[in-house]
Amino acid sequence: MSTFREDGAAALEWVANYLETIDEHPVLSQVEPGAIRAALPASPPEAAEPFSAVLRDLDVVLMPGITHWQSPRYFAYFATTGAEPGILAELLIAGLNQVGILWRASPALQELEEVTLDWLRQLLGLPVPLHGHIEDTASSGLITALAAARAAHPDRRVVVCSEHTHSSTVKAARLLELEIRKTPADDAFAIRADELDLDDACAVVATVGTTSSAAVDPVAAIADRAGAEGVWLHVDAAYAGAAAVCPELRHHFAGWERADSIGVNPHKWLFTPMDCSVFFCSRPEALRRAFSLVPEYLRVDEDVVSLSEYASPLGRRFRALKLWATLRCFGREGLQSILREHVRLAALFEEWVAAEPGWELCAPRHFSLVCFRKEGSDEENEEIVRRANSSGEIFLSHSKLDGRFVLRLSIGNARTSEADVALAWEVLRREAAL
Ligand SMILES: Cc1ncc(COP(=O)(O)O)c(C=O)c1O
Repeated sequence: MSTFREDGAAALEWVANYLETIDEHPVLSQVEPGAIRAALPASPPEAAEPFSAVLRDLDVVLMPGITHWQSPRYFAYFATTGAEPGILAELLIAGLNQVGILWRASPALQELEEVTLDWLRQLLGLPVPLHGHIEDTASSGLITALAAARAAHPDRRVVVCSEHTHSSTVKAARLLELEIRKTPADDAFAIRADELDLDDACAVVATVGTTSSAAVDPVAAIADRAGAEGVWLHVDAAYAGAAAVCPELRHHFAGWERADSIGVNPHKWLFTPMDCSVFFCSRPEALRRAFSLVPEYLRVDEDVVSLSEYASPLGRRFRALKLWATLRCFGREGLQSILREHVRLAALFEEWVAAEPGWELCAPRHFSLVCFRKEGSDEENEEIVRRANSSGEIFLSHSKLDGRFVLRLSIGNARTSEADVALAWEVLRREAAL
């Protein structure tokens, strides 16, 4: 412990150096399954080791098994950024080691979380105050939403969603023993509101920014139906929610202010290190009905409701600190300028694909995700992705739309420049030409 300052300085230096030299690593880890496990001792050490040994093995043993989500040439799934304010806040969070089981266990944790989420609500243009708390992931948020919906409607067992809804909705329904009813999508991969069947439904999940193609469900039309039939509306905006910081993109979210609950992941596209998923709710009393359980040893005299009464975990990390740090150190303008640049780069890439004979766009682009393919078989396209990823120069992922294999280029890293996107296009055309 006496070397804490030195070790801390070395760890910070390690991270600073890593971020400065991130370009030197293959973006997708190139190790074989089991290689990292085989390089690690099978048993724990008997004697204490210095922290420097951990840093050394991070370099020597673990780095080959790191896929570089922080790389500007990471374009897979939904690209993210763990930006510097959140990195430093994570150190402070661990140093303080707050365990937010109750308000009194850390008044600052709870009240900062409340204030920070109200800031975020304002940044997203959501008009009225909402309950907000932070969860680890959007998947947990789906469980929270559907559990509250089930408690609100114990006689209804169906969750309605789209065929393009993220698998976390299906998983949450399975855990809660609810039945999934998928609604067909239109040509733009959005729910067909005219096909919604809310009979016996306790919840309907609409997505703004679906995982495969970032499609936008017609939230306002779904909210009309959900409101008329008393069905809980959850809006899953895990990836795209951040875009609402930019007023010119807010039309995609029309109607989400009428949702019962909303999920947005700052750890996806709001520059906050994993993990930080925000859950907003306009019916906090329904959350408490589903989740509040206060045993004697947690009973307190203060007239304050702890955040643990609104979701499943009791202990709560001080995640608000890293979101607060991120919002402060970027400011509205900083967030907007990076989000706008990502949308601009995606639009540029889309233009290049559209102009290139033999390539086609496969879905409308609303945010910073482009879905495309080379004309030809699924196998040829799969081979292009495989070769591009194993070159180490870029990393991108795929999905299936209308039964066809499509490539996905997702822009979400704060360091990604036009040169990185141009390189991605060059690599893809090179691999396709082989
Ligand atoms: C639309 C959508 N919802 C939910 C999720 C699940 O997110 P998490 O990893 O935070 O559970 C994702 C992940 O990509 C997503 O794209």
